[in-house]
Amino acid sequence: MYFIIIIIGYLLKGILPIANLLSIQYLVSEIETRSLSHTLQISAVFPLILVMFCGLLISSLIEYSDKLFQIALINQLQTLIVLQTSTFNLADFENPQVHNQLKRVQNDSIDRPIQIYKELINFLSSMVTLCSSIAILIAFRWWILLILIVSPLASFYSLLRFTQIQYVAKKKRAPLQRKSRYINYLLTNEKSFKEIVLYQLSDYFTAKYKSIFDIFYKEDKYLAKKRINLYLSFQVISTLFIAIALIMIIQISWQEKLLVGSIYALVQAVLLTNQNINTVSQGLISLCDHNLYLDELFAFFNINHKQENSGMLLRESGVRADATIECIEFKNVSFAYPDQKELALKDVSFKMKRGESLALVGRNGSGKTTVIKLLTGLYEDFKGDILINSISIRNYNKETLYDRIGVIFQDFVQFDFSVRENIGFGSIGHLELDARIWESAQLTGVDKVIRDLPNQLEQQLGRNFEGGIQLSGGQWQKIAISRALFKDADVYVLDEPSSFLDPESEKQVFRQFQNFINDRLCLYISHRYTSVLYADKILVLDKGQIVEEGTHQELIKSRGLYYDLFSDEINTFQEALVTNDAR
Ligand SMILES: Nc1ncnc2c1ncn2[C@@H]1O[C@H](COP(=O)(O)OP(=O)(O)OP(=O)(O)O)[C@@H](O)[C@H]1O
Ligand SMILES: [Mg+2]
Repeated sequence: MYFIIIIIGYLLKGILPIANLLSIQYLVSEIETRSLSHTLQISAVFPLILVMFCGLLISSLIEYSDKLFQIALINQLQTLIVLQTSTFNLADFENPQVHNQLKRVQNDSIDRPIQIYKELINFLSSMVTLCSSIAILIAFRWWILLILIVSPLASFYSLLRFTQIQYVAKKKRAPLQRKSRYINYLLTNEKSFKEIVLYQLSDYFTAKYKSIFDIFYKEDKYLAKKRINLYLSFQVISTLFIAIALIMIIQISWQEKLLVGSIYALVQAVLLTNQNINTVSQGLISLCDHNLYLDELFAFFNINHKQENSGMLLRESGVRADATIECIEFKNVSFAYPDQKELALKDVSFKMKRGESLALVGRNGSGKTTVIKLLTGLYEDFKGDILINSISIRNYNKETLYDRIGVIFQDFVQFDFSVRENIGFGSIGHLELDARIWESAQLTGVDKVIRDLPNQLEQQLGRNFEGGIQLSGGQWQKIAISRALFKDADVYVLDEPSSFLDPESEKQVFRQFQNFINDRLCLYISHRYTSVLYADKILVLDKGQIVEEGTHQELIKSRGLYYDLFSDEINTFQEALVTNDAR
């Protein structure tokens, strides 16, 4: 609606200079013809006044609709970008190219669309003015037009070629630009701040950042120089052509004894034509200049995901996971991360049933987290199959499946929201159930911390927003575990749930957890072997393969990798105790 008003407004605005010109011509001619009788009618001024009023009206209308349209445009675009982003899957986010594309599109979408819009609309309005001033000139002597357009056409051609050179140069910059953005992020981000200060990296990064900009500056300076030289030389030539056109018009007018008003109108038409040819060609050139952004924007919206249904917006189709999960089975699962040759999991097979707890142990990088990522459907291009209640995970409707799985990842999120939200996000439909939130908090012991907070459940957490309170690493982790437990799930998956917990809290969490999960499935990963002692089954992973499985006793007996890892941990404790005794 606003857009239509704007288009009509700008079209009318384009006619205004010509209307203005004609009304002045009329006024001047009236003055000239009536000067002998001194009887200038008031009506001679009317057209000019009318044009002025119309101008005022159109400008106000445009100004009003313009503002609203610009806000709507940006909001709409930002929403579309967010929507497109929510179709991304984990593989997309881990792909630096896609990730950077997203960042660039987000950054540029703040003012670029407005610039493009303004240039388009000005272009439109100038086109109207240009057409009408050309019409006046053609009606007088068509060949004057030829004199006027020779130089701008040449200038347009060479500037266009120049823009292409500039486009290529800017596109080449992308990798360096990505690096500078990353350094900027490091320098301005709370998480990296501590290490940057302690390792005194600030100068190093600042210098790197500056050196990238120095390179850009040099390039830009060279391009700007080239552009201004081109522009100036064509402008000088163009001005000479205008002078020729004007001289010819005045000579013809003398010969044909034209009225002063008509001469004025012709001179103005020449000037308007020249001015608008420039505006139109500049507009075209800068629209080409925006190519880079538009290319990127369209490419962004056309990103096709390798896996269709593992984005944030979940697929509607698929088998609904309505039945309680009784059994999970990994059948010869092998998997390599996108663009990686090495397999992260090799022929992994295991089975777990309701009421069973399964522990995954192994060295760093052995593939434990990867098992969880596959079990939660974050990647689907694995070989073999993962069956949940004997149905392949690939066939499930993810939305209903996720309702049945409670997960806490190793790199869990600290939401800078209230305590209620941090725990309640586990089951977003039950955000208002205070008793259940407290219950989940109690399971990890974080309820005591919450009771001491000034606003209890409504307490804003984190340092990003006003009134936020920062928790310790362990307290955040307890909140995250409570979030997973808040969901009334069939399967609980915990990746290193105790990495930040003190031994006492860890024991409490595990004890509570054992009671809590009695008839559900639980898969947990821990590097503390004392925590997995009571698991019904322990799987030992090494380089992506299951090398041993059994209960703690069985694995100790078989004296394999588990025995080595377990005794390493015990020996460390014992050595520490002996050293303390010796003191
Ligand atoms: N997003 C990823 N892209 C590519 N490779 C990855 C990715 N995540 C993990 N890997 C690789 O996959 C292998 C297994 O990683 P995984 O995170 O499953 O190990 P882990 O057993 O959980 O280790 P940790 O005990 O350190 O948490 C590692 O060699 C790692 O380098
Ligand atoms: Mg891990």
